[in-house]
This record gives sequence, C-alpha cells and structure tokens, in this order.
Amino acid sequence: MIYTDNYAYMPDLETPRLRLRKLQMRDAADIYRYSRDVQVARHVLWEAHRSIGDSRAYLRYMLRRYRNHEPASWGIEWRDTGEIIGTIGFMWIQSDNAAAEVGYSLSRDFWNKGIMTEALRAVIAHGFGSMNLNRIEAQHETTNPASGAVMRKCGMIHEGTLRQRLYNKGRYVDVELYAILRKDYSDKRR
Ligand SMILES: CC(C)(COP(=O)(O)OP(=O)(O)OC[C@H]1O[C@@H](n2cnc3c(N)ncnc32)[C@H](O)[C@@H]1OP(=O)(O)O)[C@@H](O)C(=O)NCCC(=O)NCCS
Repeated sequence: MIYTDNYAYMPDLETPRLRLRKLQMRDAADIYRYSRDVQVARHVLWEAHRSIGDSRAYLRYMLRRYRNHEPASWGIEWRDTGEIIGTIGFMWIQSDNAAAEVGYSLSRDFWNKGIMTEALRAVIAHGFGSMNLNRIEAQHETTNPASGAVMRKCGMIHEGTLRQRLYNKGRYVDVELYAILRKDYSDKRR
C-alpha cells in the first residue's frame, strides 16, 4: 500500500550537507532572503516574493498542507548554519498509480554545488524506500537546463517534451518531462 499521509510521513531526511525538515513560521526570513530573487523564481510557478509577508503567506500555506496531510515540501536546511536555503517536495501524489511529482528550488548563493542533486536523491530514496511509490516524475522548463542536469544525475529518464505545456510569467513554455521508476532505482542500486 502507498503511504500518502504526508504530514505523518515527512520525517527529517539527513544527507552529508543537508537536513530536509518541515518548514516553520520562524523560517520566513530565510525563505524571503532567496525567494525575492527573480532569477530563482524565473522558471517556477510562483512569483518572486515582494515582501516578507509573501514568505509568511507561503509558510502558512505549507503548514496548512502539513496539517491536512496533503503533499508538501520539506525545507532544505544547510546543516552548517541551520539556514533554510531552499525547498523540495511532492506537488501531487496519486495512490491509485503509486506515482508522485517532485519539485524544488534553491537559493542562488548555493547553485552549482551539487546541493539539489543531494536533496533530490534523498527524496527519491524516501519515495521508493518508505512511501512505496512506483514512479516519481519531475518537469522543468526547456529553458532551465540545470534542472534537467539534476534530474539525470539522480537517475531520472527523459520521457519527452510537452510543448507549451505551461503558461508561466506571460508566456507559453515547453516543458521537459522526466521520471524514475522503482525498477530503474533498484537496477541502479544492484
Ligand atoms: C535548478 C536548480 C534546482 C539546480 O540546483 P543546483 O543545486 O544548482 O544543482 P546541482 O549543482 O546539483 O546541479 C546543477 C547542474 O546543472 C548544470 N548547469 C548549471 N547551469 C547550466 C546551464 N545553464 N546549462 C546546462 N547545465 C547547467 C551544472 O553544471 C550541474 O551539472 P554537473 O554537475 O553535471 O556539472 C537551481 O538552480 C534552482 O533552484 N533554480 C531556481 C529554481 C528552479 O529553477 N527550480 C527548478 C524548477 S524545475
């Protein structure tokens, strides 16, 4: 059986440099520090935060999702300092198909250090190891190739281009669809 009770089933996930943990209201200043950056928001479906009030509204939304046991994101904590430097989590989970979609974003100060690869590997391991998922998807805008590199490094396979799949920030954008199956994951570990 697939375990979709996200609130109960979002344990802290530890990696060498990161702790993935549930967000709290006190993370607002950290979230605002990087979410105000239009470069971070460029290829995601949210707008750059204009004030710390936007970050608080985001946190209230996420806390509500935890409470309602809905798919949600972990905060990515930089273990050295305890700072929240990004988020990663499930956008949706389908019990019938044992499938889910993962999404993420990271402070620009931390790009290109292998951090999201480290975080995504931990979430994939959790998805197959503890949640009993069979398929984990991710998508990125075609014009955001760094995100595709993260997906490939985590063993996800490119399945196709979804033309003008999204309307984002005033334009229709093509999207690259990736997925990893439970069998891909176990073959890789063997
Ligand atoms: C996309 C994002 C998550 C990547 O996180 P990250 O921690 O920098 O990723 P990693 O360091 O693990 O890997 C990045 C890879 O992209 C590559 N890369 C970076 N810029 C690139 C570019 N313009 N074109 C192609 N590859 C690029 C890096 O070389 C690296 O690959 P390598 O290890 O093979 O050299 C981060 O840039 C981000 O949060 N961006 C803003 C939000 C966002 O776009 N989220 C994803 C929405 S789908």
